[in-house]
Amino acid sequence: MRSLEETLQQLEAAQLRRRRITVDAFTSPGTRVNLEVGGRELADFSSNDYLGLARHPALAQAMAESAGIAGAGSAASHLVSGHGREHQRLEEELADFTHRERALLFSSGYAANLAVMTSLCGRGERAVLDRLCHASLIDGVRLSGAVLKRYAHADAQAALQMLTTGDEAPAVLATDGVFSMDGDLAPLPQLAAAARASQAWLVVDDAHGLGVMGAGGGGTLEHFGLDAQAAPVLVGTLGKAFGSFGAFVAGDAALVEFLIQQARSYIYTTALPQPVAAATRAALVLIRAEGWRRERVHELTRRFRARALREGVPLADSATPIQPVLLGSAAAALGAQAQLAAAGFLVIAIRPPTVPAGTARLRVTLSAAHTEAQVDALVDALAAACAQARVGRT
Ligand SMILES: Cc1ncc(COP(=O)(O)O)c(C=O)c1O
Repeated sequence: MRSLEETLQQLEAAQLRRRRITVDAFTSPGTRVNLEVGGRELADFSSNDYLGLARHPALAQAMAESAGIAGAGSAASHLVSGHGREHQRLEEELADFTHRERALLFSSGYAANLAVMTSLCGRGERAVLDRLCHASLIDGVRLSGAVLKRYAHADAQAALQMLTTGDEAPAVLATDGVFSMDGDLAPLPQLAAAARASQAWLVVDDAHGLGVMGAGGGGTLEHFGLDAQAAPVLVGTLGKAFGSFGAFVAGDAALVEFLIQQARSYIYTTALPQPVAAATRAALVLIRAEGWRRERVHELTRRFRARALREGVPLADSATPIQPVLLGSAAAALGAQAQLAAAGFLVIAIRPPTVPAGTARLRVTLSAAHTEAQVDALVDALAAACAQARVGRT
């Protein structure tokens, strides 16, 4: 039997052991109180709440009202008796928002990606994925028994080559829309052409693009002007810009019906609570009506980048609210995290295996809920932390 303690000690020695922090209370948008670091207020630059909706009163009210009617839990899977009115309405509204025939709700993005990949990839077929795709897309392929091929990050030419050479039938080309740890965009027009040329399904996981990218918040596909024909399978998550929880797959009626019949991560699990769906519907109203939230997060992102680059902060090349600060070693990233916490900022170090070895980083994320003053103060603290990390290396 493998020694669990030994493995944990090895992780500790390599500075790769992960630790949770307990976030204890929420004071104002964009700010959290974290008791484990002394009960001080830390400005939160670590969440995926890009539009500042997670603590919006309209979502909390919709959730409370729905809980009063439907209760806290769905009590059954969608295919038994857990599919409620709020789920149905939300699916119809998400289909309309994404300009697709149907949308299907899932309890998480992880489950949605498992559903798509296990259903569309046949055993012995080929699935071609960007090297930096989210873990859930990779796990879905593994579960399907398809042959997994991973191309160099954002290299559409390499993707096409993998799709068109080899003995297996190419089934799926999958990519994130916005890469979760890097913030850059997939070359979707070129990937759509590669998928079309090889007759593979193009699956776009737009967990971090939906609500944020595109003039109407339609995501990375809207940003590139691509329609449902170019990208027939869209996965969206609801726990990030939507400020709620859950996920959906949008596509044509046949795709959604196929998933309902086939996808084990859809069939064999309890339906999302209806109050969560009600909160998501309230978020969708705000995403559609309040374009200023998108404009604001992008404006703050530009401000952050301009100032940080001027200060010599080693930013990755990203134009989205995900702004990685590349530090290299896990020790440097952890040191910078601690220094930022001492200065009043919650920014989390991301280490292998979440990112490739040697590319540990701080993952800074901007939100419409931040103020200019918070952003400017973060840049000052980051500049100091990065200078310290450089000293540590020499
Ligand atoms: C690109 C991407 N896809 C899928 C997921 C999973 O979504 P969820 O948190 O809803 O399971 C995440 C993050 O959590 C993600 O970053």
